[in-house]
Amino acid sequence: MSMRRRVLLPAAVVLVLAAGVSLVPADEPAAQTGTGHHPAPAHAAPPATPTTQTPPAGTPAGDTPVTFNNQIVRLFQQHCQVCHRPGEAAPFSLLTHRDASPWRQQILLATRERRMPPWKPVAGHGDFAGVRRLSDADIALIARWVESGAAEGDARDLPPAREFPSGWSLGAPDLVLKPEASFEVSASARDLYRCFTIPTSFKEDRWVSAAELVPGNRKIVHHILTYIETSGISETLDKADPGLGYTCFGGPGFIPTGGLGGWAPGAPPTVMPSGVGLLLPAGARVVIQVHYHNHGGSTESDRTSIGLHFARTPVDKRARSVAVLNRTFVIPAGAARHEVRASWTVPPMRDLHAIGIAPHMHLLGRQMKVTATSPDGTTRPLISIDDWDFNWQGLYSFAQPVPLPAGTRIDLDAIFDNSPGNPRNPNSPPQDVTWGEGTTDEMAIVFLRVTADGEHLGWRPQ
Ligand code: HEC
Repeated sequence: MSMRRRVLLPAAVVLVLAAGVSLVPADEPAAQTGTGHHPAPAHAAPPATPTTQTPPAGTPAGDTPVTFNNQIVRLFQQHCQVCHRPGEAAPFSLLTHRDASPWRQQILLATRERRMPPWKPVAGHGDFAGVRRLSDADIALIARWVESGAAEGDARDLPPAREFPSGWSLGAPDLVLKPEASFEVSASARDLYRCFTIPTSFKEDRWVSAAELVPGNRKIVHHILTYIETSGISETLDKADPGLGYTCFGGPGFIPTGGLGGWAPGAPPTVMPSGVGLLLPAGARVVIQVHYHNHGGSTESDRTSIGLHFARTPVDKRARSVAVLNRTFVIPAGAARHEVRASWTVPPMRDLHAIGIAPHMHLLGRQMKVTATSPDGTTRPLISIDDWDFNWQGLYSFAQPVPLPAGTRIDLDAIFDNSPGNPRNPNSPPQDVTWGEGTTDEMAIVFLRVTADGEHLGWRPQ
């Protein structure tokens, strides 16, 4: 018997999930400690760098000298400052020469090894919007700057500082939803997941064309997911749990009818393509799940808000989510490279287009590759991640909608490392691991955000 499993999805599994930009809205495992990838406190002291800096040995004749003020700051403005500035996720700022210079050796290595900027999809497998990837020329330029002494350069070369929007980057929303009060996060709280349920009061269904999450306190907000609910369960869960909101580790505690995107450092807001809408049913509740991580020191409070923009132009298609998954695997204790596969075939007469993709595994996940094989046999890579990190998972938007004609087979191929040598392994010694929502469980899913070619809702703004 082959290991390949064919997972036919019951309707309930074809979840219409958070059609958001940044994060997988499925389950989130419980507290994960020691993965070492949490943003450190703002403005950490630079590590002791061996200052093996050679004196500016002179740039090769004919080459323009590389200085911070001339070339490097422009590159940092474009590729780094979204996270590397005060109050953001990265542990130090890259605004000025003074900020950057002590970190030059780390910058050289992190860019050369393509650890920074964080961007997981392997180039050439899927064509995405908002790619965070330095070109080889950018990397070489940084290396030349560092190796020639990381000079500041002439102040007259300095471009104006890049402006970052401090409030709503999409402009004032039509509706802002937020929990009824601020939530207190104690100084000792590491990896705390809290769900806040917020009622809406519309008598009719609404189409959302864009949603923007604004963390209330970036010092402690690690990432955010959102869910739409119509069952009322979240209100019950909220009442049963003392304090504002309720604890939610694996998921929000109900099957969502949809979602409004997520947030992680550097993530853009969720914006639907023209003609596509996210459905917010009449009377729905919006649940915001926040992953907090307090680096300690003091109690912090947060009140995260979500701004909704309702459709002002016709909506013909609903953004839906398809989950391709395998729930029946066992990852044997000690296996350093265990493969799990799943497949799903687009049903007959139902041509789809994929607008986004979100691979999802927990801490043992190492690699995931997703391909689409058309009925005529052509295979196209949808995404490949060869260095999975739970903390940098994303919902990636395709640069152009990818056609998935009826009969197209989606294949997921995931690799897990359940050996004692995996520093993220939550079990010591390793245990057999199966599907589940906790930190010590695993998942092998890819969510595809799709639209159906045959859908013509004909909704028009009044
Ligand atoms: C999307 C947010 C984001 C962007 C964009 C980003 N960084 Fe980072 N960076 C981080 C975070 C968060 C950390 C802390 C370590 C971690 O969580 O991986 C970090 C850590 C670092 C470190 C120290 C750790 C290491 O890996 O050596 C360096 C150096 C660094 N970044 C350089 C850069 C440079 C240079 C750029 C732009 C070319 C950049 N970063 C872009 C978020 C970002």
